[in-house]
Amino acid sequence: MHKFTKALAAIAVAAVMSHSAMAENMKLGFLVKQPEEPWFQTEWRFADKAGKDMGFDVIKIAVPDGEKTLNAIDSLAASGAKGFVICTPDPKLGSAIVAKARSYDMKVMAVDDQFVDAKGKPMVNVPIVMMAATQLGQRAGQEEFKEMTKRGWKVADTGVMAITANELDTARRRTTGAMDALKAAGIPDKQIYQVPTKSNDIPGAFDAGNSLLVQHPGVKHWLIVGMNDNTVLGGVRATEGQGFKAPDVIGVGINGVDAVNELSKNESTGFYGSLLPSPDVHGYKSIQMMHDWVTKGVEPPKFTEVTDVVLITRDNFKEELKKKGL
Ligand code: GLA
Repeated sequence: MHKFTKALAAIAVAAVMSHSAMAENMKLGFLVKQPEEPWFQTEWRFADKAGKDMGFDVIKIAVPDGEKTLNAIDSLAASGAKGFVICTPDPKLGSAIVAKARSYDMKVMAVDDQFVDAKGKPMVNVPIVMMAATQLGQRAGQEEFKEMTKRGWKVADTGVMAITANELDTARRRTTGAMDALKAAGIPDKQIYQVPTKSNDIPGAFDAGNSLLVQHPGVKHWLIVGMNDNTVLGGVRATEGQGFKAPDVIGVGINGVDAVNELSKNESTGFYGSLLPSPDVHGYKSIQMMHDWVTKGVEPPKFTEVTDVVLITRDNFKEELKKKGL
């Protein structure tokens, strides 16, 4: 009798436990540097979708600086997370992030921006999912040249405003790719002007663009190069401020989802279009890899490059976003 009650109790406990185990999903973190960018919101959305599909919870934390990053890892550990995916606010935090994760026995992988070590070398041992930066940059440059040819601009009247952020390797590779493509297409080197931005947002790029424009008053038409939509948008706003009209400016951004507001405007602007990669894939795939790593011990590939991309303009952006479920 006693044995029987004990067995019953054990069953009851097991039932409660499995119930709570069901309610208490495994937790994984997804940390991003700039949650105000639709790019990162999209990654979060699709990481959540992966969590739903595979039965884990995604703890999403904004990490705009180093201190918040390290605090976020502490709080992930406190909530029992076994690993996290991160787009770091500063690649140089890589070693500190890895050390902290290790101290909690948490797994870590990067998305979008690769960690670098103290010497500035990429930390290739930390798995990363990122876009094909050089290739996308080149495509942006090619699309700009195609459009300027269509508009019948003379090369001699055209200048390139390249707003750079070279301390971020993915940014450097994109803008270099775009400038190289423009050179290859026939824009002379001396007509390609570079200016660094102080911050990776529209106001930073706007200031950079303005300071560049005042130095080159003779240029009639501008091509604008930048690492993402916000950078190019800042440059476009600067040309508008200095009196350039939409037909004399061509900017092609990168990210796509960050260009929706601009492309939805009734009137066309100097922002011609954007290359839309796959923030959905970045978000879903990276956290799925983390999940498989934690639950099945399957280590993610060290380097996953996402290459598919489509040019969205005012004419096709709704359709293209819909095709991707964005
Ligand atoms: C960097 C940029 C983001 C976005 C991602 C995509 O992190 O800052 O805007 O372009 O790369 O990988």
